[in-house]
Amino acid sequence: MDETQIGLLAADPAGQAQVRALREIAEESAARHGRVPAGRRPMRVDALPSRITVTEALALDPDFSAPSPLWALIGVGGDELRPVGVDLEENGPGFVIAGPPKSGRSTLLVAATETLLRSGTPVVLVAPRRSPCANWTAGTASWAC
Ligand SMILES: Nc1ncnc2c1ncn2[C@@H]1O[C@H](COP(=O)(O)OP(=O)(O)OP(=O)(O)O)[C@@H](O)[C@H]1O
Ligand SMILES: [Mg+2]
Repeated sequence: MDETQIGLLAADPAGQAQVRALREIAEESAARHGRVPAGRRPMRVDALPSRITVTEALALDPDFSAPSPLWALIGVGGDELRPVGVDLEENGPGFVIAGPPKSGRSTLLVAATETLLRSGTPVVLVAPRRSPCANWTAGTASWAC
């Protein structure tokens, strides 16, 4: 005969009471330990979002700071999502973004440019009249859209 033992988190074995107890343990633990450094947290695999803004991508890692003013965001990645980019100071100055039509090239260029501008790096854009880049307004950089 098989025997199964189930550990209870609260005296009340009802599902709702157990969920409540688990939530209380999680809240107490978060309050006691705060933000645990990445290396000491259990491994987590995040789902890739279907849409994300530059601000949201950078906020994924609160400890993140661009390694140089020429660091440009190209997306998010990793098991535990974090900003992924290219440091044009280290791996530049040339960097090609290529792909078939509608593969996301302009979106990537916009995100990369936005992060360069946030670092105070001057950007010169050369773009056709009808381009997502043409939406930028002058003032923060030199434009040639
Ligand atoms: N990483 C991504 N994940 C999901 N959707 C994306 C991603 N990047 C871009 N898209 C979407 O795919 C579509 C095409 O993107 P985008 O215009 O950037 O591509 P493109 O390669 O520049 O296209 P085009 O050939 O028109 O120049 C847009 O609707 C955009 O929102
Ligand atoms: Mg395009």
